[in-house]
Amino acid sequence: MASLAEAPTRFTHTANPAPRSAEARAAVLANPGFGNAFTDHMVTIDWTEDHGWHGAAVVPYGPIMLDPAASVLHYAQEIFEGLKAYRHPDGSMALFRPDANAARLNASAQRLAMPQLPPELFIAAVEELVAADRAWFPEVEGGSIYLRPFMIATEAFLGVRPAKSYKFIVIASPAGNYFKSGAPAVSLWVSDYTRAAPGGTGAAKCGGNYAASLVPTKEAFARGHDQVLFLDAAEHKWVEELGGMNLFFVFADGTLLTPPLTGTILPGVTRDSLIKLARDEGLTVREDRYSLDQWRADAASGNLFEVFACGTAAVVTPVGTVADRDGEFTIGSGGPGQLTGKLKARLTAIQRGEAPDPHGWVVRLG
Ligand code: COI
Repeated sequence: MASLAEAPTRFTHTANPAPRSAEARAAVLANPGFGNAFTDHMVTIDWTEDHGWHGAAVVPYGPIMLDPAASVLHYAQEIFEGLKAYRHPDGSMALFRPDANAARLNASAQRLAMPQLPPELFIAAVEELVAADRAWFPEVEGGSIYLRPFMIATEAFLGVRPAKSYKFIVIASPAGNYFKSGAPAVSLWVSDYTRAAPGGTGAAKCGGNYAASLVPTKEAFARGHDQVLFLDAAEHKWVEELGGMNLFFVFADGTLLTPPLTGTILPGVTRDSLIKLARDEGLTVREDRYSLDQWRADAASGNLFEVFACGTAAVVTPVGTVADRDGEFTIGSGGPGQLTGKLKARLTAIQRGEAPDPHGWVVRLG
């Protein structure tokens, strides 16, 4: 495993010989959506048992060569992250809590038997890419450059054991809204499938978790909903998370609740930030189990005022309705709630450099 002392600190740079034209880029940036287009460059860093992390490079964005026997293609030894770069009012670019993403990548790497990546190298890789492709920042409402760091097992070997070589890559994508509809609140479908079981990989950000969510997601879409909601595996009773977002509940007494990190839920950076920001406001935030039955009862009695989903991609998104095989219920007015809006504004103002950063979360890139 590479120690920090062995890790490369210098990146070689190969400029894209055929970058997208200014017109083509402008067309993408006018309506970026989420995850549709990619910038002109990417970062790659290799790992082998003998050399640790080496060969850090900013190269033209494009296909990568993989041996067809590469372990990632057979046993899904893959982990990823998601974070965003923002443009501040003074024109500088900034990252939000990249150290938290670096730490989570290493927690995922530990669970998937992959090498640790020095956090400084993770952050440097992201910074190099943002510096190379900052022209891809979209000037749209809520715009950002979404960064997708990921690590794959590259060894050509079909035995089931951890690979002996890996590649860490960062790609970047101009982003606007995650949800296509742009609706004021999203609708959820409660899946019969489960996302993660105790002792499984639920807390790791690995591609396999998302692959397993695709049939339930397809089912939610087919029924006309925006997102799938997963309950716990053991009792199929307790609320866990959505296909790619954590959940928060806001009660009539002004308190908040979010499901606890028991090992089956992804520890979201946005989730953690919102807990801290809500507590800064003097609000009580409980990390506690919450059942679907209680949710339905609280929505009916008026004890539940608001529900929102959160994540790097989705930021803070109000939940309007929830449906399962027993029927559908509405939260509050079915539209965005007041506290949801306030917390979103608080978070995004810090990320965008429009408000002080009391927790030191923002990393300015110049
Ligand atoms: C993110 O919010 O960054 C995610 O990874 C969620 C989803 C797009 C997979």
